[in-house]
Amino acid sequence: MKKRIAALLSMLLVLTLLCPAATAFAAQDASAALRFRADGTFKIMLFADAHDDDVMEPTTTALMEEALDRCRPDLVIYLGDNTCVRGYDKQVQAIDALTRPVRDRGIPFAMVFGNHDDEFGMTREEIFEIYQSFGCLTYDADPALHGVGNCSLPVLASGSDTPAFNLWLIDSGSNNEDEGASGYDYVHEDQLNWYKATAAALAEQNGGKTVPAMVFQHIVIPEIYDALYVKMPRPIEKLTQERLGTIYSIAPVMTRLNGYWLEQCCPPDVYDGELAAWKEVGDVIAEFHGHDHKNSYEVDVDGIDIINVPTCGEAAYHSDINRGVGLITLHEDDPANYDYELIRLYDLALQKDSQICSIEGTESKAHYFGLKVADTIVMFLFRLCRLYYRIFPKIL
Ligand SMILES: [Fe+2]
Repeated sequence: MKKRIAALLSMLLVLTLLCPAATAFAAQDASAALRFRADGTFKIMLFADAHDDDVMEPTTTALMEEALDRCRPDLVIYLGDNTCVRGYDKQVQAIDALTRPVRDRGIPFAMVFGNHDDEFGMTREEIFEIYQSFGCLTYDADPALHGVGNCSLPVLASGSDTPAFNLWLIDSGSNNEDEGASGYDYVHEDQLNWYKATAAALAEQNGGKTVPAMVFQHIVIPEIYDALYVKMPRPIEKLTQERLGTIYSIAPVMTRLNGYWLEQCCPPDVYDGELAAWKEVGDVIAEFHGHDHKNSYEVDVDGIDIINVPTCGEAAYHSDINRGVGLITLHEDDPANYDYELIRLYDLALQKDSQICSIEGTESKAHYFGLKVADTIVMFLFRLCRLYYRIFPKIL
């Protein structure tokens, strides 16, 4: 009898692993577990651009583990360019290593794809199945849409099953493959139509009230240029750049930044109007993206916070002063006033019990202390600039 039960259970397990629909259903079902804590908070940790392989960089693992232990999030989202590795077995090992710090702590996790994940011989669909086999909450809401893993994860109210907040996971694609096009891919019209219809259905579940939301995707929207840079009347060699037919300054206005801009922003060259769709629906209060590894700016674009989460990965190109993970704290009674902070590697390394400096080949505590001092000085100067901008807003 015991053998028969064991055989039946094994068969069910195999069927679940082999059937994408069953796995997707399981993921949707698990997402129902996302719920505000009794104290009205919900914490989301963001890991961007790990770019790692089957043997994960020790400092990346340590950064994730120490950040998770310090912040104890309710959900982790991987923001794309997660693994860069060739071959099925190595891909499985890479995703295992990448998600192990989270799974070991029993924390639910989700992911979006970046532009590099599928550049190593496996399709997005094939890689996605591996994520799902590790219990990833991301599911493919409509496989007919552009991209893989477009979905919404509602966060339920602490005291009822009403959706109190919503998380949009969007595949912003890889490279633009439209005929004659160049640059990065973009969020297509069919994805935006699905977003609008799903948001409307969610509002209906919420008694007709729009459910406040955040968007998580890999690549930033093109409007970041309008928000950060100066529009110029004509091109000037080496001082201007052109994007979507508009001429901008080559560098952003420092006073518009909150955080660091250490490399050029890289949105797609063409666009189907994602920001306009967000504004039409009126649910999105913030968007988080990776892609530009060194940047950590937070910018208001038409009332929506656009936030670049820098890379967490040693394997990725990075800036030591910014390398870290994002932490969002949502408040159930006031969703628009969420908290966001960047948990930096240097800050964790300076903690009393940190293991980061004892990893072979890692920098010393003195190095990380130097970074902290430099960061503190730069941020003080930024704040002065922003104060000046508030006092004299018409100057820039
Ligand atoms: Fe990347």
